[in-house]
Amino acid sequence: MTKETLTVTDNRTGQTYELPIEHDTINAMDLRQIRVDPGDFGMMAYDPGFKNTASTKSTITFIDGGKGILRYRGYPIEQLAEKSNFIEVAYLTLFGELPTQKQYDDWAYEIRHHTFVHENIKQLMEAFRYDAHPMSMFISTVAALSTYYPEARDIESADARMKQIVRLIAKVPTIAAFSYRHSRGLPYVYPNNDLGYTENLLYMLDKMGQTDYAVNPTLARALDVLFMLHVDHEQNCGTATMRVIGSSHSDPYSSMAGAAAALFGPLHGGANEAVLRMLVEIGDAKHVPEFMEGVKNRERLLMGFGHRVYKNYDPRARIIKKIADEVFEITGRNPLLDIALELERIALEDEFFVKRNLYPNVDFYSGIIYQAMGFPVAMFPVLFAIPRTVGWLAQWQELLADSTQKIARPRQIYLGEGTRDYVAMDARS
Ligand code: ACO
Repeated sequence: MTKETLTVTDNRTGQTYELPIEHDTINAMDLRQIRVDPGDFGMMAYDPGFKNTASTKSTITFIDGGKGILRYRGYPIEQLAEKSNFIEVAYLTLFGELPTQKQYDDWAYEIRHHTFVHENIKQLMEAFRYDAHPMSMFISTVAALSTYYPEARDIESADARMKQIVRLIAKVPTIAAFSYRHSRGLPYVYPNNDLGYTENLLYMLDKMGQTDYAVNPTLARALDVLFMLHVDHEQNCGTATMRVIGSSHSDPYSSMAGAAAALFGPLHGGANEAVLRMLVEIGDAKHVPEFMEGVKNRERLLMGFGHRVYKNYDPRARIIKKIADEVFEITGRNPLLDIALELERIALEDEFFVKRNLYPNVDFYSGIIYQAMGFPVAMFPVLFAIPRTVGWLAQWQELLADSTQKIARPRQIYLGEGTRDYVAMDARS
């Protein structure tokens, strides 16, 4: 009969240990019993970047990186992108089930009616430098929201938690739009609660003096689909940060500011900005082979390629490629697309990329669409942070409901000096 255990022999001592296996995983704390002598601290696992360490059990998002599968609460991302909308996916992600009509209407109403920010928040944003990066403004403003809602620190209260969740999802488009308007020197536009989520965002970004301003419904839908694709992606760098900060029982605004800061990095949510800059630098499809030589010589990375989890085509990249055509019909074709297609064509055939399972990730095409829609590159990480707010908050709720979770506190392998005595300044060489 097979046993759900792992037998480990420590060849330093000859001792054998039997460790329970649950969900194909051993509990890292079970390694601690493996000691050379009673004074030994016990064995640990070394895993920089947490490449093979599960930090939580979760029921939100399933990814099979080898097969290129992404599901929220069991629903394939392809079906959601085709049949659902961002507000419904937000409900699904947070509550675990698709809403009934009544639940959907109530939820959509709540989100629509918390879009305004306190006037002081507007003044706070106006105080940023004229050329402040919109993502830096976004991060700081989300953190500042905690000063307006002190009850957010009552993380034990389900009502208080839900209130902050609604506020955050509803207000992030407003903060994003204000940060854009600020960086352009344009007057801020207040939310229009008659409009849907992405419609309202486009309205706040774009409206000037027109009295008959109307958002293009195809562009609003394209953005809605892009938002659905970005809602959650299990334990990535930003989400892990949300959980790490949340594990100390910080309020959700402070935790989310940290998560957004993690997302800002060029190896994470800043990658679509880096892709765009890379495409502009390449300049023409005929320069692609030369650029690829540089990548293979490890002089640089092919931004928008590779993923910690996907070792196959990122399913989100496939959907985004389709949306690109719909958007370009309205905006005109982005000439950078030809460079991107050529990079992808060469990479998918080249042994360097094939051997390492490097495929386009979500960021490879999203930047080209955002640029065609008129967004400056600095807005790209902000456009990622808006929908990811839902995922961060769903993961934060799950963390707080999980009694097995502890404050996050990794171990280290200390390789520094042993004890030494303090040396007076005049005795140092
Ligand atoms: N260009 C060239 N080579 C690459 C790339 C790339 N984009 N990505 C990985 N490699 C190479 C590595 O050099 C390494 O080669 P080696 O084994 O010969 O040393 C091999 O592929 C494996 O890569 P790792 O760095 O070990 O993979 P890891 O899981 O640590 O990194 C990451 C994943 C950070 C996404 C990486 O692929 C990368 O830097 N990509 C470019 C940035 C990017 O597009 N980030 C967006 C990710 S999606 C998101 O966050 C929303």
